[in-house]
Amino acid sequence: MTRETSPSVAQGTASDGARGSRPDRGAASETARGSRPNDGLVYVSGAFRTSADASVSVFDHGLLYGDGIFEGIRAYNGRVFRLERHIERLFDSARAIRLEIPHAPAEVCDIVVETCRRNGIRDGYIRLVVTRGPGDLGIDPRKCPQAELIVMARPTLTMYSAAPAGIRVITSTFRRNAPDATSPSIKSLNYLNNILARIEANDRGADEALMLDGQGYVAEATVDNVFIVTGHALLTPPTATNLKGVTRETILALAVSLGIRAEEKPFTLFDVWTAREAFICGTGAEVVPVVSVDNRPIGDGAIGPVTVRIIAAYDELVRSQGRPIQPDAPPREFVAGYRV
Ligand SMILES: Cc1ncc(COP(=O)(O)O)c(C=O)c1O
Repeated sequence: MTRETSPSVAQGTASDGARGSRPDRGAASETARGSRPNDGLVYVSGAFRTSADASVSVFDHGLLYGDGIFEGIRAYNGRVFRLERHIERLFDSARAIRLEIPHAPAEVCDIVVETCRRNGIRDGYIRLVVTRGPGDLGIDPRKCPQAELIVMARPTLTMYSAAPAGIRVITSTFRRNAPDATSPSIKSLNYLNNILARIEANDRGADEALMLDGQGYVAEATVDNVFIVTGHALLTPPTATNLKGVTRETILALAVSLGIRAEEKPFTLFDVWTAREAFICGTGAEVVPVVSVDNRPIGDGAIGPVTVRIIAAYDELVRSQGRPIQPDAPPREFVAGYRV
């Protein structure tokens, strides 16, 4: 985050004017703030900047209040997987919190692809953040005239080091947001419930936490949707209590093509503990087998055959579809919606 300084501090490019003052920072202060030289180029405030120079105002309500939304997308084999669907969900989240994204959806797609291209990404993880932008120290979003779109793309992201052998999960005491609070369908910058659940998992020596809804049904994991395999079908909870995960959607469609019976149906911890198999899934994590929940082995405690099939089909699908990154395309600039 940029330290707000007096107007006498050196200014950056013309586009910096949209965000107010931008201090001239030395290498020492970069190190102190943890910026790393290999974090690539970041799209922020309508321009591509080095990660060291990519910053937002400390008055940004995304920072002050978690007032904003985000998306996580993956690129495989030189293509961005399910790009349009992710951007559609980003705009749905924005609409729900009445946040105006300063670009059209098609242009945000182009910015994502261009961010990948400029960072030389063939396989990697892309993060979009849209904040309410800078305002005053009160909560009123009307004081934030300009939303901020940030796009980052990095070649690697490992969510669970134990994933290949299957992860151990506990049930958190923290409940997933109720649908009548901040809807779990909004991929908002407010992840504190989920972070508290993850801290609980860390404290209890587990890899991840399941979160229940207000009625005690299984909702999802802290950053992933959840599936179980019973003797009857592949089950995942309906999305009123969890994020409408793109990976979840993809797996439900894959199950159909694999001839695996799949249902969206509420279930309890009892169903999880007695399931034959379980896995969690998300763009970042991909498909991750769960081998124990609350110290109870799932099935025989090994990765089950349905999970193995789903992982194989998912891996094949993601590598064969998506919007091409076109590494040799000429550079593009995107400044629409910004006062440059
Ligand atoms: C709370 C939550 N649930 C589920 C998911 C999985 O969603 P997707 O498959 O769209 O990445 C995420 C992804 O970030 C998440 O944050």
